[in-house]
This record gives sequence, structure tokens and C-alpha cells, in this order.
Amino acid sequence: MIGREQFFRLTPGDADRYADHLLRLEEEDRRLRFFKDAPEFMIVMHAGAAACDGRIAFGWEEDGEIRAAGELVADPDRPHVGELAFSVEKGWRRRGLGAALMDALIDAGARAGFTTLNLEFLAENHAMEALARGFSDCVVDRDGRLAATVAMKRIVNPG
Ligand SMILES: CC(C)(COP(=O)(O)OP(=O)(O)OC[C@H]1O[C@@H](n2cnc3c(N)ncnc32)[C@H](O)[C@@H]1OP(=O)(O)O)[C@@H](O)C(=O)NCCC(=O)NCCS
Repeated sequence: MIGREQFFRLTPGDADRYADHLLRLEEEDRRLRFFKDAPEFMIVMHAGAAACDGRIAFGWEEDGEIRAAGELVADPDRPHVGELAFSVEKGWRRRGLGAALMDALIDAGARAGFTTLNLEFLAENHAMEALARGFSDCVVDRDGRLAATVAMKRIVNPG
């Protein structure tokens, strides 16, 4: 079973490895992750920002390569509201990495003071929908995309 202790927080030194992970996603998976065809330069910039701007971003590695990752991005207008996003490489799926990343980000988000965590994904993203429904009883259609609000945990001893 994959536990949250197996994830590490991405730091600036992980930017290149994170970009390599995202660039290994197949074209369709990149579209599911970024909602559009994301060119290489955009992915490299995204990985750099995610590893450097202080957001909560977790990676999971095997043999030195990041094979799965999850991010929590704060809403610029509502800092206690965050958006979650995930990526797991094809050969590493259906092992519980996505669910374990979700669990770790919900826990870290609650400790950091987030009160609401949302997920948005394309309607055809059945894997993400099934994963989201395991953490949310509120999945709604929003202009052709699905939006889920995940259940937050009460943190007894924050920090
Ligand atoms: C969505 C994604 C993150 C799931 O990662 P994962 O590590 O395979 O997920 P898990 O193994 O933790 O699966 C957890 C549960 O989600 C559901 N699920 C995951 N993939 C599924 C699939 N392909 N079909 C149906 N259900 C699926 C299942 O209920 C699963 O539990 P189970 O394996 O016990 O049945 C992964 O498929 C991915 O990276 N996709 C491409 C990028 C993307 O879509 N990102 C999301 C945009 S935010």
C-alpha cells in the first residue's frame, strides 16, 4: 500500500525531473492534465513554477525518476481555496498512487489552512472522475468540465 510518507515535497532542484515526468505523459494525457495541447515550453515553465513558487507539490520517485505528482494551487483571489491536479505515468497507474497523492494533498492542505479544495477535469476523464468520486460526494457539470469539491479533514493538531 502506498502511504503519504513515500511522497516528497518538490523543491527548485526537482524542476527538471518534474518537467521530464510531465513530458513523458502521452499527448492525450497531457491534454487531460492541462485541458489543452500543452507545448513542451509550457510544460517546462509549469514544472519550474510548481517546484519554485511555494505551492504544495508532491512527487513520487522510482530509481531517481519522478513517476507521479500532485499539486495544490491556491486561488489568487481566495487564498483558502485551492485547486488540485495529478499526473501518474501510464506504467504506474492503478496502484493507488493517485488516491494516495490526493490523501496527502488534502492532509497538507488542511494543515496549511485551506478550507476548500476543488478539482476540475474534462468530462471524458473517466479515471479522474472515478478517483474524484472516492473523495467527493459533490461532482457537478460546469460548462462541459466536471468540478468536484473534496471533503476536508479536521486536523486536530495543525502544524
Ligand atoms: C487520473 C490519474 C491521476 C489516476 O491515477 P492512478 O494512480 O491510476 O489512480 P489510483 O490507482 O489511485 O486509482 C484510485 C481509484 O480511482 C479510480 N480509477 C483510477 N483510474 C481509473 C480508470 N482508468 N478507470 C476507472 N477507474 C479508475 C478507481 O476507483 C481507483 O481505485 P481502484 O484501482 O481500487 O479501483 C491518472 O490516470 C493520470 O495521471 N491521468 C492522466 C492525467 C490526468 O488526467 N490528470 C487529472 C487532471 S487533474
